Amino acid sequence: MNGAFWSVGECMLELRPQSNGTIIHAAAGDSYNTAVYLKRLAPALPVRYVSALGDDAMSILIRKHMRAERIDDSLVETRPGGTPGLYAIETDANGERRFAYWRAQSAARSMLAAAHLSQLEAGLAQCRALLLTGITLAILDDGRRTALLALAEKVRAAGGWVALDNNYRSALWDAATAAQWMDRATRACTHALFSFEDEAVLHGAGNSAQALQRIESLGVPEAALKLGAGGCLLGGAAVRTTVHVPAPEVQAVDTTAAGDSFNAGYLAQRLAGANAIRAAQFACTLAAAVVGHHGAIIPAHAMPPLPDTLSAEP
Ligand SMILES: Nc1ncnc2c1ncn2[C@@H]1O[C@H](COP(=O)(O)OP(=O)(O)O)[C@@H](O)[C@H]1O
Ligand SMILES: [Mg+2]
Repeated sequence: MNGAFWSVGECMLELRPQSNGTIIHAAAGDSYNTAVYLKRLAPALPVRYVSALGDDAMSILIRKHMRAERIDDSLVETRPGGTPGLYAIETDANGERRFAYWRAQSAARSMLAAAHLSQLEAGLAQCRALLLTGITLAILDDGRRTALLALAEKVRAAGGWVALDNNYRSALWDAATAAQWMDRATRACTHALFSFEDEAVLHGAGNSAQALQRIESLGVPEAALKLGAGGCLLGGAAVRTTVHVPAPEVQAVDTTAAGDSFNAGYLAQRLAGANAIRAAQFACTLAAAVVGHHGAIIPAHAMPPLPDTLSAEP
């Protein structure tokens, strides 16, 4: 497998207060979660995270988490004086989880400054696949959104893939702005890995078939529409006909990172040469394991191994 996988976005420090007064920390964020799962599935594939962090102790801690997962952080720019985004997961007396965020001023929002963009352009020929998400676009200003999509176009022009997860978060941007930028990003991508639930909120799609049709109408070559416990719907010109891939039945205990792990499973299989159906089957298997465990990043030993695709292909 030549070339590297680049994931662009915001990695935050996750804080989990414990009943004994201590706090457990981890690194998390949609684009980061996908990077971690993909690196675990394809250890030989260089996985680079693209973002910005500060130079404070919390930023250094995030880099340590990244390196422990063998994520290359050389494309994570350091902003002197900057600080990262943080979030805390609190569990109330009824066991309900609540998330509190401190991310409005995070250094990630200032990624893609001129020097960072030059660094990315210089390495672009080695980018085999680039991952962007709706959250990545949401935290950037218009100038940076434009620069990121221009970068995506260059990756695609050089023969690389551009994967996009819609991940719509209404707290980060308004629906009209999000709809406009997501459509631009969708036109630029080669692989749309969208959640139907988010698509329905953003565009009011009635059912999954209609949502898939809307995505296909934007010219996406390959699309997987994630349907929660319903598995996914595959489409796009490269897939030819719509195919439904069911999810394994599992007792879901925490759906955090279901979609992120799906993306990693799908891309790991496609990058290894599997067809879209096999990729979706494995993506659903991995995501089922993830929803069956607590936390965004489950232990490596709880993940299903990547099937030996090439020998299994007809
Ligand atoms: N309850 C569940 N049982 C089995 N698989 C699930 C369940 N929830 C999610 N998944 C898997 O995770 C994938 C992504 O979940 P989904 O909720 O659609 O996306 P997102 O987490 O991005 O909103 C699904 O396509 C499915 O494979
Ligand atoms: Mg999602």
